[in-house]
Amino acid sequence: MRVDRFLSNLPCFNRKQVRLLLVEKRVRIDGQTVSDPHADVREFSRVEVDDEVLQAGKALRHFMLHKPAGCVSATRDPQHRTVLDLIAEPDKDDLHIAGRLDFNTTGLMLITNDGSWSRRLTQPQTKLAKVYYVETEQDIGPEYAVKFREGLYFAFEDLTTQPAGLELLGPKSARLSIVEGRYHQVKRMFGHFNNKVTHLHRERMGPLTLDNALKPGEYRPLSDHEIELI
Ligand code: URA
Repeated sequence: MRVDRFLSNLPCFNRKQVRLLLVEKRVRIDGQTVSDPHADVREFSRVEVDDEVLQAGKALRHFMLHKPAGCVSATRDPQHRTVLDLIAEPDKDDLHIAGRLDFNTTGLMLITNDGSWSRRLTQPQTKLAKVYYVETEQDIGPEYAVKFREGLYFAFEDLTTQPAGLELLGPKSARLSIVEGRYHQVKRMFGHFNNKVTHLHRERMGPLTLDNALKPGEYRPLSDHEIELI
């Protein structure tokens, strides 16, 4: 929300007073003095006028988890263990998953309470590469890379997938890089060739690579540097 709207929504200031507060440089967001009425106030922002705290703000939290197989990428599930069950943190209801994985897919999962951070990470427009290690039932032919680069038509969504990169690692294993996260995307891409994915592991999302030190089921907070990379 714009800071002028945030302030004039409070019972203590009318619009004229808000304009004055901004001009007189008496408003601070996250410690920075602001005079621009368009400056953004988020639920996480700390807002102060003079020495009075009008909104304390919330701490942003970002975690990297090594998702094990047999675990649901959801915050709640009536039947199965969820990725949030693996996280021992307070206020877990605030957290959400940035880019889901299927029940048996393993690897990098990012969990946060920061909605704009997770949107930047997952929206197709930002074209961040999601890199998967894939094993398949049948051999992977040279035609796969050509088709993946061209894009595949997904009738259900009525769209053609963005160009994807395929690096063959063995007859039945490859590394695939995609910039979207359509429903079951990797399995559907290999499914185009009637080739079943038998093992799927996400290694990387954009600049964030799964920490080798994390065993399946383990997690750690992201560093400030990792958070700023997105
Ligand atoms: N694509 C899939 O098919 N499954 C996943 O879990 C992730 C990407």
